[in-house]
Order: sequence, then structure tokens, then C-alpha cells
Amino acid sequence: MNRLIIDTDPGEDDALAIMMAAAHPTTQIEAITVAAGNVGLHHTSNNVAVILDRLGLDIPIYPGCKNALVQSTHDASHAHGMDGLGNSGLKSDRPMQTTHGSVELVRRANAEPGELTLVTLGPLTNIAVALHLDPDLPHKLKRVVAMAGAVTGHGNTNVCTEFNVFADPDAAHVVFEAWGSAGKMIEVADWELATRNGFTKQDRAGWVALNTSLSAFFAEISAHSNRFIEEVRGRTTNYFADPVAMAIALEPDIVQQKEQHHCGIELSGGLSRGQTIVDWLDASGRPTNAEIVLEIDHDRLLELAIMAQG
Ligand code: BDR
Ligand code: CA
Repeated sequence: MNRLIIDTDPGEDDALAIMMAAAHPTTQIEAITVAAGNVGLHHTSNNVAVILDRLGLDIPIYPGCKNALVQSTHDASHAHGMDGLGNSGLKSDRPMQTTHGSVELVRRANAEPGELTLVTLGPLTNIAVALHLDPDLPHKLKRVVAMAGAVTGHGNTNVCTEFNVFADPDAAHVVFEAWGSAGKMIEVADWELATRNGFTKQDRAGWVALNTSLSAFFAEISAHSNRFIEEVRGRTTNYFADPVAMAIALEPDIVQQKEQHHCGIELSGGLSRGQTIVDWLDASGRPTNAEIVLEIDHDRLLELAIMAQG
């Protein structure tokens, strides 16, 4: 079994990623830690509960950090709706765990070193705090797959940055540097990979036609995002990024091309704070901390997305 801890900030694309993991036959979601990101923590925590209600799964939910490490908070409610799930207004009364998400991540990693894969779908705040609690964390996780960054600067927020890194660059810096110092790599599914693996209007119509309760749920929570990309971004293909990262976590063989380099986070740039700076030539002498996924089997991604809504 592929045993996952998911750190997430739903977001309809986080929801589809969680649904993919739930549907996957050789995967078990052991715990979900919650980040603030797309919207505030009270919304993202509720949204995880709503998703698990729809899936009928009893998985513990651990809310984590309410704010970014250093900077003031930025959200992405313009793209995901004020509640993060497309202004659907869905609510859950499922109880939350009282242990902080960062503490629980450290506890589980120490209880079973080398057994758990961490998938991060939001800003990396909870993981940075976990590293402060346990600097040896990189040695205790089997894999880390992160939806993070825009590896050649073709971002989605503030021009050259990707939202999850833009929302907490200091946390991303702490996490990437810690993995490099430990001689470990984060598997990076960046925004640019997501743009090469978008979901067309036709793909999404096929999901609606499945006519299941889960496909209806995803149609409901993604309607706002689909409108946003058409009316504001002027395209019909939606780039749901988190499902791409999840596909890599679920099936490492889906990766068709990747490169290993140092990935730094710009912290002080006037125009570029939060940009992921990849040392493509390995010229800096900094440790390799990122396995950057450049191509995946797109057809298999589509199959996983359909399975998730079946
Ligand atoms: C990432 O930012 C969020 O808005 C999405 O949920 C995804 O995790 C894409 O840049
Ligand atoms: Ca997300």
C-alpha cells in the first residue's frame, strides 16, 4: 500500500486530487493536514470535511497554520470562490482533530520512519513548522511530492510565481533548503507542468456525463473556476494543478521526463519574491533538492481523474 499524508488547502483542484487518492486501489490516505492558502483555514478545514463526507471516508483532519510564516496572508478566492469550493456554501459538522497539523505530521513520521509519502497541495507553512519541530523530518518520509513553483518563471500569480510558493515563500525556502541539506529531493509538480496537462472543456463534459454523485459534486464546486478561466483568463482548458501532483504521488511510473537540480526560492526580489529559481546547469554548487517532473502520461492522468468521479 502507498500510504499518504496529504497537506492541502481546498480548493476544487485539491478536492479532485483527494478524490483521486481515495479512488486509487493501491493507496491509503492516512491523515489530512490542512493549510491556509486558497482561502482561510476555517474554510479549508471545512472543505476537507465536506470532501470526506462526500467520499464517505473516516480520515482524521488536522488543521494547521492559520498564517504564512512571515508575510501577511494572500488568498486565491478570486479563482476558487470566497469559500474555496466555488461559493457552493457547502458545510460539514464533522469534528476536527485538536492536534496541530505540523505536530501530527512529525508524530506520524517518527512513529513509522520511511513509510509515509507526503503530498503537499498548498502553501508549505505546515511543513516548515514541522521542520522546526523536527529537523530530521526529510529522513523520515518515504517521498514528498509537492505542487509548487513555476520552474521557468511562467507563473500564475504576480507574473513569475506560482500561488502555493507566492502565498508563503519563506516556508517554501525553509522546506526546499532542508531537503537539500539532508541530501533528499522533493518531487516537484509545478504550475508549468499543470499547463501542459490541462483539462479541456470536452474532458470536463465527459466527467459530467458520468452522472455519479461524485461527478455532480465536482461539477458543482468547479463551476466557478471554469467560469473564471473562461471569462478572466480567456481560455477554455482548465489547469487543475493539484491532481497532476497527486497522479505522480499515486503512480510514480506516470512520469515520462524529469530532471534533478537545486531549486531555490527568491525571497527578496522586488518583482520576483516567491519565484522558484532552478539551477538548470548545476552551476551553483548548491545541493540537488528537487526532482522536477517535466512530462507525464497525460492519458493516464485523465483515467485517474475519471476513476475519481466514478
Ligand atoms: C495551486 O494554487 C492553488 O490555487 C491551487 O489549489 C493549487 O494548489 C496552483 O498554483
Ligand atoms: Ca491547492
